[in-house]
Amino acid sequence: MTNSFRTLDGVDVKGKRVLVRVDLNVPMDGGKVTDATRLERIAPTITEISDKGGKVILLAHFGRPKGRDDKNSLKPVAAALADVIKKPVAFADDCVGDVAAKAVGAMKDGDVLCLENTRFHSAEEKNDPAFVAELAKLGDIWVNDAFSAAHRAHASTEGLGHKLPAYAGRTMQAELDALGNALDAPTKPVIAIVGGAKVSSKIDLLENLVTKVDALVIGGGMANTFLHAQGVKVGKSLCEKDLATTALRIIDKAEASGCAIILPVDAIVAFHFAANTPSHAYGLDAIPDEGMILDVGPQSIERINSAIDDAATLVWNGPVGAFEMTPFDRGTVAGAKHAAARTKAKKLISVAGGGDTVAALNHAGVADDFSYISTAGGAFLEWMEGKPLPGVEVLKK
Ligand code: 3PG
Ligand code: MG
Repeated sequence: MTNSFRTLDGVDVKGKRVLVRVDLNVPMDGGKVTDATRLERIAPTITEISDKGGKVILLAHFGRPKGRDDKNSLKPVAAALADVIKKPVAFADDCVGDVAAKAVGAMKDGDVLCLENTRFHSAEEKNDPAFVAELAKLGDIWVNDAFSAAHRAHASTEGLGHKLPAYAGRTMQAELDALGNALDAPTKPVIAIVGGAKVSSKIDLLENLVTKVDALVIGGGMANTFLHAQGVKVGKSLCEKDLATTALRIIDKAEASGCAIILPVDAIVAFHFAANTPSHAYGLDAIPDEGMILDVGPQSIERINSAIDDAATLVWNGPVGAFEMTPFDRGTVAGAKHAAARTKAKKLISVAGGGDTVAALNHAGVADDFSYISTAGGAFLEWMEGKPLPGVEVLKK
């Protein structure tokens, strides 16, 4: 397969100082990494460059600090990364200046060094050319392996790509290949499942998807807005009534583009927003005035699963119910298990991404059975919106 972006294939890294932008923005609790998925994902790139005799200099951000602050230090993350890659990871207290230059100067071929949080300098987020030049002094080439930060045009995610020879890391490469196969050049028919609480945060995404996919399942709180727009009484359910016109416009656009919109046909309704509170399935013509829709109903689950059966490619973002509370996880878990089974049977290419989505698929126990799961949050959404990602654009040939 030939890529439209530059990869590490054929790049001689031996003896070179390789600045590798990674995403070390991992969940932490009490100084310990609670989910190492992002660290596991970047391991192949680091190991490959190190094994080939390159000096691996890691650049990353952590949190959203305003200037230097100890609780956003990358030091504990670097230690956790060493466990994952089974190699020592040295650490420097700054990503530019004498401290960084000295640490890089002390490296031997194959060594791995992590520099402190790039966001300790406000120039990082401004993509300030002087700061880009400071970073560029530390390396001979730049490798971007942080798809999940590629929607940011920051010094370390984008600026460096204009200053140094730029390549996609192996994880970036795998992610771009998987996502390309899902929306840009997919095996048809394509189905998208989009859930989550609000339409307002996903208007651009829905507008883009209806022009690209053959069927769009809308679930979660956002489905209530669409149902309301079509005259369904949704009781006390989460619903953005002021977006009724937007919802109808998206439905019209879907129709014009030949995209089938699949909305719930029944709903699980409760009277309190709490786990295990009593709940029942209702038809859409009978949602109680005091009730809250917290999941799709059994007929909707069947409908979603048969739509998945009709598809060759699936893109999933967002749970279709309040999956963090039992039993309102049922719709999401059923759909996820069905998609996983179709994928295992080689009938479906399945790609999923976005913060809650990965949590939901892990909860369903099927994350390993999907074709590809992106660890990106905001970047995955912007990709689904059809927006160019600065950190990817700069890697194009
Ligand atoms: C993420 O965790 O989604 C990425 O690292 C981007 O982080 P940001 O939203 O703070 O830019
Ligand atoms: Mg984020």
